[in-house]
Amino acid sequence: MPVTAATRRARACANLLRQVHAITEDEGITPSALHAIKLKLEALARRADLFPADDFAMPIAQGRNHKLLVEEGDGHGLYLTIALPGKEAAPHDHGIWCIHAGISGQERHRFYRRIDNATEPGKADIIQVGEVMIEPGKGMAMADHDIHATEVVGDAPAIGLALYGYALDRFPAVAWYHPAFGATRSGASRRHAA
Ligand SMILES: [Fe+2]
Repeated sequence: MPVTAATRRARACANLLRQVHAITEDEGITPSALHAIKLKLEALARRADLFPADDFAMPIAQGRNHKLLVEEGDGHGLYLTIALPGKEAAPHDHGIWCIHAGISGQERHRFYRRIDNATEPGKADIIQVGEVMIEPGKGMAMADHDIHATEVVGDAPAIGLALYGYALDRFPAVAWYHPAFGATRSGASRRHAA
């Protein structure tokens, strides 16, 4: 009997997480570890045959995350993400590291650095420091408090892999930034919800 894409995908995702743990057990979550994991996630994203469109329903609106492999407890979460044309997210910081790699479509990620000294609640100044296009086989890695903004480019959905230090339903509070007003606000933490 032929092995289905779902079976091969499950094996490949489990293999990726084993490699991720081998890297982080050796050196922790460092810039070089995140880079090494990014290369592995990009390699997995290039295996488009493992992620046939029929296996992943499109979003009703904006975006949708499909669980690929979510570890127990405070383990990592690996998802297939779909963002429709026009979807964008203002600058934000997840409070936890994440890595993305594109399967199809294009999503622009702009990166920012906070330049104020965080002494006044609700106030924050950020400046853009970089930009990368997430497209097939190309990814990016962010440390816990890096700030990014996202925007789907073109008229095709942006489909990719996303690996987070924690599962999405156990996420810390996400901090949002509004550079035009020098403002910031935080969402609710899900650290104790699960
Ligand atoms: Fe984000």
